[in-house]
Amino acid sequence: MINTVLVGAQWGDEGKGKITDLIAHDYDYVVRFQGGNNAGHTVVHGDTKLALHLMPSGVMYDDVVPVIGNGVVVDPGVLIKEMAMLSAEGIDCSNLKISADAHIIMPYHKDLDGADEKSLGANKIGTTKRGIGPCYQDKIARKGIRMQDLLDEKIFRLKVKTALSQKNPILQKIYGLHTYTVEEICEEYLPYARILRPYIDETTELLNAAVREGKSILFEGAQGTLLDIDHGTYPYVTSSSCCAGGAITGTGIGPKRIDRVLGIEKAYATRVGGGPFPTEQHFAEDGGVGEEAEVGETLCSVGHEYGVTTGRKRRCGWFDAVVGRYAVEVNGLTDIALTKLDVLSVFDTIKVCVAYECDGERYEYFPQQQSVLFHAKPVYEELPGWKGVDISGCRTFEELPENAQRYVKRLEELTGGRISIVAVGADRDQTIFRDWYRDEN
Ligand code: GDP
Ligand code: IMO
Ligand code: MG
Repeated sequence: MINTVLVGAQWGDEGKGKITDLIAHDYDYVVRFQGGNNAGHTVVHGDTKLALHLMPSGVMYDDVVPVIGNGVVVDPGVLIKEMAMLSAEGIDCSNLKISADAHIIMPYHKDLDGADEKSLGANKIGTTKRGIGPCYQDKIARKGIRMQDLLDEKIFRLKVKTALSQKNPILQKIYGLHTYTVEEICEEYLPYARILRPYIDETTELLNAAVREGKSILFEGAQGTLLDIDHGTYPYVTSSSCCAGGAITGTGIGPKRIDRVLGIEKAYATRVGGGPFPTEQHFAEDGGVGEEAEVGETLCSVGHEYGVTTGRKRRCGWFDAVVGRYAVEVNGLTDIALTKLDVLSVFDTIKVCVAYECDGERYEYFPQQQSVLFHAKPVYEELPGWKGVDISGCRTFEELPENAQRYVKRLEELTGGRISIVAVGADRDQTIFRDWYRDEN
């Protein structure tokens, strides 16, 4: 049985939802291990695109158990709405298991997320304002409220009372925001508790028992390598471990149980929110001119690059092989799924960043110094395109135009990774599996 960790290898939105949904039926369990409803994963259900924020993408199959692991932060109201949306689409959520140890996003976390961002002014991170950072702050400070606390009204009230004794003065005195009463919060959250109670479980034991029985698990990452709290472009990151290591701490499964680490990479790059992005092709409204603005706009419009969670226009740029190499290393990627290759069919030539230059120095590796990264100028290699050829119908690697094959192979050389899956459209079947992928399953 192949246990697979699936992670974003760039700045998020690489197409993790599509690939998870595509391969989920090979697994018995699909587990989210970090992040919360800052994630927006798109899956295609019949003719409709569905956006999943908290529910593991494996929910689309009846015989796959979706699990929300201990490393996730859960906004119960959002989860309940998502379950209702899925039920209305005829998708059964009754198998869902939620870790009793997962932390709960409280109303004041969302207020503090917004207020923090406001106070940072021009240096703001551009968070999704879903309360993710403040909830993880409380977790690390050992002040969080967890799903298991919802199971006992007395304990929940007590924890809320303690939390408010610290949060209310901060909300009021530092940010001039409204405060909360215990009653107000209980009125909202205790009904959530009644709905979610049947799903709250001991997921670490459940998953380890599954491993003992030879069942297989797909660990579904959210966000991406460059948004990881340790390995990303700090402080312009999210507050969790989005790299492969997060799958271990976020579920309680030992590292030797993992057989495959699949990194999802877009055939170009995007980023939402602030922070360095060396290959960015600025839009005209952000100061881009001429070819740069044209490339940025083209990637955005052809690739439909708008945030699933916030609706924000995603910043767009060429594929960055320095980032690619880094992602292969920090995640130990055994395989890569390259998505949205079809989007590049509109270009005469396609650029790939092979290194950075800063102050006369060449960087072949991802620099850890923020100041270098901010001033890094990409060194590009230009590859011939396959302009005008519709590749969305290709189902084998050999069917792709020669230049598209060459592009994929060049990315493998530059990143040191093995591209085992190529996506040529949003639908499940618009996908190419390289020969070895199925053989190794
Ligand atoms: P995630 O957060 O990594 O799951 O990615 P998102 O769902 O936020 O963004 C990826 C978008 O690209 C979604 O709208 C997908 O439907 C779409 N998509 C995924 N793979 C492909 C592909 O190969 N080609 C095209 N054209 N669209 C794709
Ligand atoms: P998926 O799973 C892209 C970004 C935000 C912001 C930073 C911190 O769909 O790939 P946060 O609200 O997490 O504190 O914001 O991280 N961000 C994402 N960008 N895709 C995501 O998720 C993201 N989740 C958070 O834009 O820059
Ligand atoms: Mg997304």
